[in-house]
Amino acid sequence: MAPRKIIIDTDPGQDDAVAILLALASPEDVTVLGVTAVAGNVPLPLTEKNARIVCELAGKPETLVFAGCDVPMKRKLVTAEHVHGKTGLDGPKMDDPTMPLQAQHGVDFIIETLRTHDAGTVTLCPLGPLTNIATAFEKAPDIVDKVQEIVLMGGAYFEVGNITPAAEFNIYVDPEAAKIVFASGIPIVVMPLDVTHHALTTHARVDAFSALGTKVGDMVAAWTNFFERFDKEKYGSEGAPLHDPCVIAYLIQPDLFEGRHVNVEIETQSDLTLGMTVADWWRVTDRKPNAMFMGSLNADGFFALLTERLARL
Ligand code: RIB
Ligand code: CA
Repeated sequence: MAPRKIIIDTDPGQDDAVAILLALASPEDVTVLGVTAVAGNVPLPLTEKNARIVCELAGKPETLVFAGCDVPMKRKLVTAEHVHGKTGLDGPKMDDPTMPLQAQHGVDFIIETLRTHDAGTVTLCPLGPLTNIATAFEKAPDIVDKVQEIVLMGGAYFEVGNITPAAEFNIYVDPEAAKIVFASGIPIVVMPLDVTHHALTTHARVDAFSALGTKVGDMVAAWTNFFERFDKEKYGSEGAPLHDPCVIAYLIQPDLFEGRHVNVEIETQSDLTLGMTVADWWRVTDRKPNAMFMGSLNADGFFALLTERLARL
């Protein structure tokens, strides 16, 4: 089967970085048409710089990296330096990137790419707030029907929130954008905290990254060690959840995941539950299912795939 053509929309963040590495290490499964940065974990000037750092680390400086939106559609930006550190990629020391940032705005790249490729052949892979995606849909409604699928990291149901008691960070930062995306009618696969909290970077798994004996392995080990401290203190878990690589792993090996096609609505009015993904998991309403909401993961299989692919870089 031909590799899936994808656009990665991202707010690096250590876990985004590992997702980008996994994608660039898997050319037989995915063709990365471009990487669009969005404000999220850290402000846009850092997320676009970090995206370029990661593409260079992967040995793919020819990757097209774009800067997208620097603020959410209707709200002030909320960032997560408390999790990812000041740079967004804290942990190891990193050199500034030398590869160029594309001049075109990330939203315009998404629009142009969908307009110039056959309908149903481009998959969008959002790993951060959905601002770029929703802005593209608002600016160019004609592209909505051309998207093959959206596979995103975001939301939570049984696992509840990580930035508020009710909301996961990516959705919380731009709930209006999420509402637009979930109402688009495009086939959506959701990797919520319910799944990503089982993708924990235990010591054995981090040791496997270090054992690769490569710069990529060492960087990923250093990032996951840094990233872990926040989750360990909060959840008492051994290891940090590697959220975003679940999106790319799904494209490569979907049977690592199980979920249900259910209705998911986004709370945009209530201050108490703003950004909550209200998943009708038990189908108690007559609301139309609009998303494949993942609920479980084969964690050992996920890390085996990830480590094997990272070894290629
Ligand atoms: O809540 C986890 C998500 O928020 C991940 O995508 C992480 O990178 C941050 O963007
Ligand atoms: Ca992210």
